[in-house]
Amino acid sequence: MKKSVIYMILWMLLDFIFFSLLFFFAGLLITKDVSIFASPLTISMFSIAAIKVILGYVFKTYHLIWRYSIRRNLVRLIVISLSIDLVFLCLSLIPPLSNKTGVKTSIFIATMLMEFVYLVASRFGLSVYYNQILDKNFLSNDGTRTLIIGAGSAGALVLNEIGVNKEYGYKIVGFVDDSEEKIGQYMNNVMVYGPISKINEFVKQLDVKKIVIAIPSVGLSRLKEITNLIDYKGITVEVLPDKAKLLQSGLNQTIRKVEIADLLGRTPIELDKSGLSDFISGKVVLVTGGGGSIGSEIARQVASFNPKKLILLDIYENCAYDIQQELKMNYKNTLDLQVEIVSITNRSAMDRVFATYRPNLVIMAAAHKHVPLMEHNVIEAVENNVFGTLNTVELAEKYNVDRVHMVSTDKAVNPTSIMGATKRICEMICQAHSTKEQHTTFSITRFGNVLGSAGSVIPLFKRQIEAGGPITLTDYRIIRYFMTIPEASQLVLTSCSMAKNGELFVLDMGSPVKIHDLALNMIKLSGLEPGKDIEIIETGLRPGEKLYEELLVKTEELDKTDNELIFIERDKPLSLEEIDSKLALLKEGVATGDDIKMKEIIKNVVPTFIEKEQANKNFDGKEVK
Ligand SMILES: NC(=O)c1ccc[n+]([C@@H]2O[C@H](COP(=O)([O-])OP(=O)(O)OC[C@H]3O[C@@H](n4cnc5c(N)ncnc54)[C@H](O)[C@@H]3O)[C@@H](O)[C@H]2O)c1
Repeated sequence: MKKSVIYMILWMLLDFIFFSLLFFFAGLLITKDVSIFASPLTISMFSIAAIKVILGYVFKTYHLIWRYSIRRNLVRLIVISLSIDLVFLCLSLIPPLSNKTGVKTSIFIATMLMEFVYLVASRFGLSVYYNQILDKNFLSNDGTRTLIIGAGSAGALVLNEIGVNKEYGYKIVGFVDDSEEKIGQYMNNVMVYGPISKINEFVKQLDVKKIVIAIPSVGLSRLKEITNLIDYKGITVEVLPDKAKLLQSGLNQTIRKVEIADLLGRTPIELDKSGLSDFISGKVVLVTGGGGSIGSEIARQVASFNPKKLILLDIYENCAYDIQQELKMNYKNTLDLQVEIVSITNRSAMDRVFATYRPNLVIMAAAHKHVPLMEHNVIEAVENNVFGTLNTVELAEKYNVDRVHMVSTDKAVNPTSIMGATKRICEMICQAHSTKEQHTTFSITRFGNVLGSAGSVIPLFKRQIEAGGPITLTDYRIIRYFMTIPEASQLVLTSCSMAKNGELFVLDMGSPVKIHDLALNMIKLSGLEPGKDIEIIETGLRPGEKLYEELLVKTEELDKTDNELIFIERDKPLSLEEIDSKLALLKEGVATGDDIKMKEIIKNVVPTFIEKEQANKNFDGKEVK
């Protein structure tokens, strides 16, 4: 039996004994007549005591929580106990009953007084025991001065687990909460301050160096509000994970630093995992670019759905090796995993991969993705992204793959860059091939930036902060849409599972984020002051860079799906002849070996291509909050 239940039963027993004894003691005191014990009221008095304890239980005065809200629960128990006494007092005044029992009114009044003293003394005694003796001895006096946001059960858990264990190095100096009932009270000898909106005042007042946000049930938007309130200067902020994770792994393993994703917080996406499991289980899945940020996360998720075989194909062995080791460690022999170090541009090597594994599903996440780099490497971008994708598409058809799904980007929409334009051509290839009468089906998912992918701003800003700054921002006005890699990967798989041939999906990326705000928040999260500790400098837009990315979800041009974050773009595919003639032009461009000529050809091949100056002309970013 749990300790808390044993304590609860002991307290109920103690109250029962005291409630009964006090009545007899009052009777003895007033009547000085021992025969009161023989009175017919004896049985009734035991019953009255039992009723009080039962009602006390029903109104939860015996539950563990009273440890943290002794006053409130004491008042509740006093009200219950004295009201029952009053009822019996009134009954005893009614002549037939009073004659029968012979119990004097004064005995009831004396009992009530004694009960009041007993309840107050016992509960306050307990409070003193907990606060002054037990907790004082247990709470760590060394370590980083820490405030806990949230004086609820999770806050109590933090206090009782990490606050009492010197090894963890936390010295808990207070709670902060919004509840008026809790503010000003003590929980285990630790004061509750509030409201949370004054957090920075409490940090100064109590010389706090660390904050733990212990409200696991709070939604991401509230977490975002709280994390945005905090002035991070000189302090670190940690957060308790959601309840499910807490139960799985325990507090010590799951408490983590507040990350930039918390500040951009959006409600986590709930996906129909059983649908994905049905879709992937028992299939041979090939992920190209499987070592990359998105490819490797897709691989993680595919692995969790019990595929028959998972093949990760990448040109870069180090990243492929890392994900291979991770999956091996997590799945041991339960996952049939193969890693192929092959370039998608190497037709014969790719042919061998298809011939050997005969995949059912191919997810194409291999690409050169860096916008400024591809501006100077136009031919390489076309050879790798366009002709590599074409190889994969044609081999998928040759080997009767059931489904091919391409990972695309918002940069493919009205592209201003070579990278974006090559991805648009890849989309056109998939769409055109979907018009063929054949077994293989093709689909595409487009989305915006993912948080923390290789080479993205977040790892860059992190490195710049670690080096003492400055943070380089290409333009103060620049905005981007963000998703986490797991979110984007789940949505890619979900759209792939629901895709009909030729469909182009777009993901709702939520609200855009100003990269300048992102930089400010990242400096603050590191406990530093923007402008003073770390400068932010503007370096000017890079080649091919847009101030904004296209809003993917323009609902009037889209069809809805069962998933509210996934939409289908109405886009007419090119015919096979049209795509072939475009590819022929590109091939000629590659043959010239001239990046400038190649760029001109790309502009012809992608009619939606616009110069970045034109795209950025009317954008000032003011509408982004
Ligand atoms: N990162 C983002 O924010 C983002 C957002 C939307 C869409 N996307 C798209 O997702 C795809 C993957 O992006 P990522 O962020 O994972 O990039 P990444 O650079 O982390 O991964 C790409 C992987 O592809 C591999 N690769 C490149 N050329 C290859 C070739 N010829 N043969 C085999 N493997 C090759 C690379 O080695 C790398 O491991 C890209 O097409 C990108 O446009 C990325």
